[in-house]
Order: sequence, then structure tokens, then C-alpha cells
Amino acid sequence: MSELKLDRVTPSASGGEGQFPLNQWYVAGFSSELTDKPIARTLLGQPVVLFRTAEGQAAALEDRCCHRSLPLSFGSVEVCGIRCGYHGLLYAPNGQCIEIPGQEKIPSRARVKSYTMSEKQHLLWIWMSDSSGTAPTHNAPDYPHHDNPEYSFGTGVFHYDAPYQLVHDNLLDLSHVGYVHAKTIGGNARQHMNSKLEVTSEGNVVRAIRMMPGTPPPPTYKAAWPFAASCDRWQECEFDVTHLRIFTGAMEPGSGQIDAPDRGGFHMRGFHGVTPETAETTHYFWSIATNHHPDMPDTIDITVQQVKDTFEEDRVIIEAQFANMKKFGSAASWTDIHVDAGTNRARRIVEKLVQQPDSR
Ligand code: FES
Ligand SMILES: [Fe+2]
Repeated sequence: MSELKLDRVTPSASGGEGQFPLNQWYVAGFSSELTDKPIARTLLGQPVVLFRTAEGQAAALEDRCCHRSLPLSFGSVEVCGIRCGYHGLLYAPNGQCIEIPGQEKIPSRARVKSYTMSEKQHLLWIWMSDSSGTAPTHNAPDYPHHDNPEYSFGTGVFHYDAPYQLVHDNLLDLSHVGYVHAKTIGGNARQHMNSKLEVTSEGNVVRAIRMMPGTPPPPTYKAAWPFAASCDRWQECEFDVTHLRIFTGAMEPGSGQIDAPDRGGFHMRGFHGVTPETAETTHYFWSIATNHHPDMPDTIDITVQQVKDTFEEDRVIIEAQFANMKKFGSAASWTDIHVDAGTNRARRIVEKLVQQPDSR
């Protein structure tokens, strides 16, 4: 039986201390989202304004002017910073006020909290530190598939009325796809449940791998690749505290070793940034990258739309699940089954990191 931890879904104003794993890089958004307008986004309970200066620098500040507390996201972006939309204070990306219109002297305390950002491979990563302001201890994660010329990719930004760990559970255990996603990536539900799930972990990373040789190709695969009645299919999920990578795909039956790193066939590489908004709500930043068959049209646009529909199906399930958890309360425990090995391991890692942010 698992504990529900409903006590932890109560929002607090503590900046995430005791609620979320801190001292981690989280996804704040996609590079393409940052135009000349600021974006207001609450991350781990902290209201943040994201913007890109005209010089191209991505920045994140506390979304509050130090003068009279208007959200800075109501302001406008300028060459070297963001200007408050009330009385015009101008802030540099490091949070320091650098101009007070009509006043020469700028008090040193005229500043707001700034966050360290790292922009790479089309992703905006933000370092969410503990209350002592620990500086990044490692580089933001790499995700090279967005830059791989053999792949096309599309992205989406979803909002869930559910805690982030329910999203982790959903992504790390794909045994639900046969039941929830029959119209797109589903395939044979029983075959999913009967296939061996291999769960391993290394540090704070959990891998859940399922191989399904000789399985019927689901509709999304058939649209992109000339599969006949059967394919050899794999699902490899990797959980890494703030994001998951899900590598799924299939090849002609018996056309190669199903778990070889350089296997052929149709590849779908999913990136999933799961960033708590509050204890009860979650930002979900996803991308899907696929290769395409030389004799088939590139179906990336259709695939992205189908993936979007698929995640919409997940959202409905997860939000209904959470609404029901609240109705029944923490007295209603969960009964584990064989598919829960990976998700329970990930939950233990999150639990550990909430208590001790820097444990490995
Ligand atoms: S509230 Fe921002 S300048 Fe006054
Ligand atoms: Fe799903």
C-alpha cells in the first residue's frame, strides 16, 4: 500500500521548502515562448516574470516591483531589462533597479530576487534554490534531440489541476496507454500489462523499460511508418526528478535487436518537463521529436497533434484522479500492483530530495 501524502498538497508560502525538491533545474518554458512580452508564471509557489531582453538574454525575476508591488509582468521589456508598468522603475536581468525616472539616486535595496537561467536546445531552465540561495551545483540537463537534424519536433505547454507527482506517475508507467490512448499510441492493452517491466535506478534517475516484440502497431505509428500487421516495439522511460525522457518506437518484426542503441525503425523521443506551479497544480512542458521514413511523408505535424490529443486524455484522467483523492481524503490508501515498481521508486527519490535537497 502507498501513502497518499495529501497533507503535502496544502499550498504554503515558504517558497517550496518542505514541498518540492529544491536546488534543481526546472523547466520554466520553451525558448520560443519568450518574445518581446513578459510572461508571468508561478513556479514552485513563487511568482516569476520571464522575459528576454532586446540583447537576447533570457531572464527571470520575482514578479513584484519593489516600489509598490505591481507584478513586473504588467510592464514592458526594454533593451537591457524590464520596466515596471506603474511608475517606470527599470530592472536589469540581475534584479537590480537601474533607473528611477525623475530620481538620480537609486537605493541599493531597490532590487528584486533574480533567478539563474540556462537556455539551451530550445529549453529555458531555471535554478530553483533552497532559502539559502544555493548557486547551481551542476549544469542544466542536456536534451540534444531538439538539435538533431534527423528529427523534427513540436512542443506544447499544458496546465494540470493536479500535483506534479501524479504527472510523474503517469509518465513513468506506460501500462495505461492501452486503456487511455486506444485511438493514438495505445495498441494492445493486455500485451502492455503482460510485458515484462524492467525497472532500474542510478542515483536519482529511474528507468522503466518495456519491450513488446510482435505487437500490433498503433495508429500513430502506422501513419508515420509502413508497418504491416505487427512490429517490435519498445518503451523506455527515464525519470530525472524535474523532467522525464520517454523514448518509444518500433521496427519491422525481427529486423534487428530490439534494445540496440542504434536500432532502426520509427522513433518517438518525448521530453517532459514537469514543474510544480503550486502543491496542487503543475506546468507540463512537452516536446515530441520523430524521425521519418524516406518513402513516407513527414508526419510530424499529425504526430504532434495526436500527441497533444493523447496528453489531453492523460490530463482528464489525472485531474479526475486528483479530484477524487481529495473527495476520499488520506484515509483512502492505494493498493500497489506490478506496474508500480518504477513510480514508487521515483516517489521515494522525490521524498528524499524534499527532505535533503542535495542528496544524490
Ligand atoms: S509599482 Fe513599480 S514603479 Fe511603482
Ligand atoms: Fe498517457
